[in-house]
Amino acid sequence: MGIEKQNGFKEEESEFLFPPDILNKLDFNKSPAVFRPKISASNPGEEWMVVRPLQRADYDKGFLQLLSQLTSTGNISRKLFDERFTQMKMSGGYYVTVIEDKRISKLIGAATLTVEQKFIHNCSLRGRLEDVVVNDTYRGKQLGKLIVVTVSLLAQELGCYKMSLDCKDKLIKFYETLGYKLEPGNSNAMNMRFEDSS
Ligand SMILES: CC(C)(COP(=O)(O)OP(=O)(O)OC[C@H]1O[C@@H](n2cnc3c(N)ncnc32)[C@H](O)[C@@H]1OP(=O)(O)O)[C@@H](O)C(=O)NCCC(=O)NCCS
Repeated sequence: MGIEKQNGFKEEESEFLFPPDILNKLDFNKSPAVFRPKISASNPGEEWMVVRPLQRADYDKGFLQLLSQLTSTGNISRKLFDERFTQMKMSGGYYVTVIEDKRISKLIGAATLTVEQKFIHNCSLRGRLEDVVVNDTYRGKQLGKLIVVTVSLLAQELGCYKMSLDCKDKLIKFYETLGYKLEPGNSNAMNMRFEDSS
């Protein structure tokens, strides 16, 4: 099914934000994370589960409801979602990655890698981990680990020299088991807020 846009081009609902193949190539042996039982992006352990890039059709698969378990999303219309999807895809550097329960066509996990282009370090790339969430009824089943390791390995695969994140104190241990480190003298997150978070 396609969506006819005013400017004439047809956008498929199945359109991916980024090419899906790269996720299947990720080598989970490169991660210090321990999975019991062993799972990976290409083999998430259940035949009804898939790890893949965000799709346009995910507006109808509970993507925003999933994000609302992380923070306030506001009231996002399909048009607004569609426009943001197009902008992210055109600008590049946005790797919103999701886990779907195909039995019910609903997203149950998500994490975003954003890739920043730098001049420093020989025109390097820096990854940032954002918006990590697992649906509350699926937590405690390694899916948090799975989605974070997926986008972290993706950052490495894309050539990032490092990957950074901000998190609540209680999640430090969780991220440490996945290879993230607090760097002494360099572990402060500071924010300047221009409006409330909605
Ligand atoms: C954080 C979150 C993504 C973890 O998802 P999950 O699927 O439950 O995680 P996993 O099953 O992969 O758990 C991995 C490990 O982290 C631990 N862990 C998970 N959530 C935790 C939490 N909130 N506090 C402390 N430890 C936690 C688990 O006990 C588990 O430890 P183990 O490997 O020793 O058993 C999920 O709780 C969530 O969506 N929370 C709300 C949104 C949020 O806070 N996002 C993170 C923003 S930085």
